[in-house]
Amino acid sequence: MEAIFKRCSVRKYTEEPVTDKELEQLLRAAMAAPSAKNSQNWLYFVQKGQGSLPTLQEVHPNAFALQTATAAIVVCADKKKGVQTDPLNDWWIQDCSAATENILLQAADLGLGSLWIGVWPDPKRVMALRKDLDLPEHILPLSAIALGHPAKEKENADRFDPSKVFYGKYQARED
Ligand SMILES: Cc1cc2nc3c(=O)[nH]c(=O)nc-3n(C[C@H](O)[C@H](O)[C@H](O)COP(=O)(O)O)c2cc1C
Repeated sequence: MEAIFKRCSVRKYTEEPVTDKELEQLLRAAMAAPSAKNSQNWLYFVQKGQGSLPTLQEVHPNAFALQTATAAIVVCADKKKGVQTDPLNDWWIQDCSAATENILLQAADLGLGSLWIGVWPDPKRVMALRKDLDLPEHILPLSAIALGHPAKEKENADRFDPSKVFYGKYQARED
């Protein structure tokens, strides 16, 4: 629970690298996520060093965190494999989202900063990652995660809002 409430988006990092041990722990956390029919239909592309994924940075207006992030993980699904486990073939979005969130939470627990950089379903961002990572058509990128040691401390806000909650059925409310 501490990691959940500590996690926040970090967009500027120091030069201190993310260690291989930390990267493995982040990947372990990712693969501990739930997936539809337990398909585990995900692939992870680990990038080390600042300034990774240059084409994504070029086309994405809010991916500048990658300039200073000392590592990044791109979370993808393999559409070919997905067809076997999932006739609708769209559950991969939730599967990869759950994996992405697990990485963010594990990063917070390790004292690392992280940022979920949205890729899917923006075609320009998807194409950019195809170029950066040589991805074939059947590999679909959902997110890129910037990782590193935060340049400054940041507190996450308490966003609990009881007005967003319905106990039981929907009831119209005055705004
Ligand atoms: C699906 C998704 C896509 C996101 N894409 C980006 C992004 O491309 N660039 C960015 O700077 N932040 C991105 N974010 C981070 C959100 O802006 C951030 O989570 C939100 O402002 C709340 O702040 P917090 O993460 O510090 O709690 C994304 C978050 C999600 C869940």
